[in-house]
Order: sequence, then structure tokens, then C-alpha cells
Amino acid sequence: MNLLAIVGSPRKGKATDTLVDKAIEGVKSRDPDCSVKKIHLMDYNIEYCRNCLVCRDTKTDDPYVKCVIRDDMDIISEDLVKADALIIATPVHLGYATAVMTTFLGRMAWIFTKPEGRILTITGLPTVPRSKKKRRAIIIVPSGIIPPLYRRFCDWATPMIKATIKDTMNAKTVGDLYAGDIDHRGVEYYFGKAYKLGRRLA
Ligand SMILES: Cc1cc2nc3c(=O)[nH]c(=O)nc-3n(C[C@H](O)[C@H](O)[C@H](O)COP(=O)(O)O)c2cc1C
Repeated sequence: MNLLAIVGSPRKGKATDTLVDKAIEGVKSRDPDCSVKKIHLMDYNIEYCRNCLVCRDTKTDDPYVKCVIRDDMDIISEDLVKADALIIATPVHLGYATAVMTTFLGRMAWIFTKPEGRILTITGLPTVPRSKKKRRAIIIVPSGIIPPLYRRFCDWATPMIKATIKDTMNAKTVGDLYAGDIDHRGVEYYFGKAYKLGRRLA
């Protein structure tokens, strides 16, 4: 299995990154031969989508089309196509995903999707993924203050990511972890849950 883990935190070695590592440990415990690539979006040059819609209107049977913008989305797109399983992780910033994560997911939208669906998908668009490969995914979302009990007020990232990766990557989310109140509980509180989530993905 090819696993691609995408970290949308601006900080390395902190909550999001650490929980992703624990989830990868969980994957490896069940699938030791799994090939793992972890990327930090902050290390890549990802420009904003310009809504030119050239990608949407490109007709091809390829698993993705190239955006008109030449930046590091070219590299990440190759990684995404190769992946069988995804870990998507972002801390909560202002109740949502980080700016770099939303910029990245916005760029993925029509690169990996074509407007040929018959019914509205969960992102509200009649789309189908360009890639036929079925993938599995888990989502990890730490937050500093808001505990899991009040997650609904603060975690708008998880449903958005779930919908986007289904429509773009044909990826079924098999589990998610909202790791709330990290400032008070400490990230260690969630290590076991992240590990188990990784095992579920494998
Ligand atoms: C700009 C910004 C906005 C944030 N907004 C929220 C928020 O809305 N709710 C919350 O509980 N924590 C919020 N936090 C705290 C982060 O979610 C928390 O520090 C998290 O652990 C960061 O993940 P990291 O350690 O991987 O960077 C925010 C942090 C920043 C920098």
C-alpha cells in the first residue's frame, strides 16, 4: 500500500505532525511493508486557485489534469495519484482548516474532478473523480481550546475535507480524530486514538 500523509500545520513536530506520526505507526503495525510519504504543505509553493476553470473544462481520461499554474501542485499531484491511502491533517485555525490546507484542497478541486456527474455530490457539485482508483483516508484535526464535547462549534474542517477528498480522490474516510483541547490535555492524551485510527486505515 502507498500511504500519503499530508500535514497542514505551519509547525513541524507539534500536535498535528505528532499525531500523524502516531497514525503512521498504527498503519505500519498492520502493514509493515507499506510505503509511506509524509509531506508538510508549508514546504511547498502552492499558489491560490484563480478560478480560470481550464482544469474543469479539460476533457481527458487521465487521473488528473495539470493546472495552468506551474508550482509544486505538480509534485503533490503525482504523489496523490500514486497513493492508495491518505492521511489528511490540519489544526483548527479560526474554527476551520488552516489557510495552506484550504488553498491546497481548492487547487485539487477540478484538477482531480470532472463535471460529468449526474447527481449532486456532498460538496454540492455534479462531479466525478477523474481517478478510478478507490482510496481510503483518515482525517486528524487537533484544536488548542475547544474540547471534543463542543466540536460542532469548531470543527468545520472535517466535513469539508471528507467531502473534498471523496469528490476528488475517490477516497472514503474510514475514520477521523478531532483532538480537542490540546492546550490543556496535551497531545499525548490522543496518541492511542491516533494509533488506532492508523490501524483502521491499514
Ligand atoms: C490563527 C490560529 C487560530 C486558531 N483557532 C483556533 C480555534 O478556532 N479553536 C481552537 O480550539 N484552537 C484554535 N487555535 C489553536 C490551534 O488549533 C492549536 O494550537 C493546535 O494545537 C495547533 O496545531 P499544531 O500544534 O500542529 O500547530 C488556533 C491557532 C492559531 C495559530
